[in-house]
Amino acid sequence: MKKKNVLPVGIFDSGVGGLTVLKEIVKILPGENIIYFGDTARVPYGAKAPETIRRFAVENCDFLAQNNVKVIIAACNTVSSVALPYIENRCKIPLIDVMKPAVEEALTLSKTCNIGVIGTKATILSGAYEKYIKALCPSARVLSKACPLFVPLIEENILKGSVLDNVIKLYLSGLKCRKIDVLILGCTHYPLIKTRIKSFMGDRVRIIDSARASAYKLRDILAGGNMESRRTSGRTVFYVSDSPESFRRMGKKFLGCEIRGINVVKEEVSYVWSKS
Ligand code: DGL
Repeated sequence: MKKKNVLPVGIFDSGVGGLTVLKEIVKILPGENIIYFGDTARVPYGAKAPETIRRFAVENCDFLAQNNVKVIIAACNTVSSVALPYIENRCKIPLIDVMKPAVEEALTLSKTCNIGVIGTKATILSGAYEKYIKALCPSARVLSKACPLFVPLIEENILKGSVLDNVIKLYLSGLKCRKIDVLILGCTHYPLIKTRIKSFMGDRVRIIDSARASAYKLRDILAGGNMESRRTSGRTVFYVSDSPESFRRMGKKFLGCEIRGINVVKEEVSYVWSKS
């Protein structure tokens, strides 16, 4: 059996959003080989029913496990909020989500325990953030807001300008006047508009990016299990379930560099995953 150190880290998301997590991981763990899977045939997850999101999440984990990864990162807040217990039960390898690390960081930084959370409809409807925040800090006040237009705007490359600023105002005005001191970006797409959100919310509000917090969690898990790569530089292999060209184009925005060699996973494969 191969030593864990040489095995890749597996990351999945509904599409390009998880690349914000990948970017942070590569920054702090440059020696790791990574397999990234973007389920571009079935994106967006955020508007789908919980049962559907759970099924997709299980299939994505199975795909990565079949590729012999040492850790899986569910780099999608929608999956982390809606499907975590389902994939945790099934996964035989360590699993990292993007919700818990962000909540833990938010509670460390908040002075008032008035926490704002924004995300997709499915994430906010699940109530998972509120539940986890209250489990760690029962006196916390949690204000949540679904922002369903953010993902399509980001995917359309609308990352600044009046259209974006108006949508930010529409969604976040309520949170702004409720005196939160920390706002969790509960969606892996949102780091791309973090500066606009920060500018609207003002200096009083700290913005927590789940990408960075989860990358640090991965570092701790690898170190704790003596699973870190001993290489000085690793490489990432990309898989998508559809539209590699648009993944490449958008991915460049998310990663800030060119993505080469994107593999397309055929639908028959996804059928096989669901039967296992
Ligand atoms: N990346 C997803 C998340 O973090 C948002 C995109 C989607 O709806 O699939 O929730």
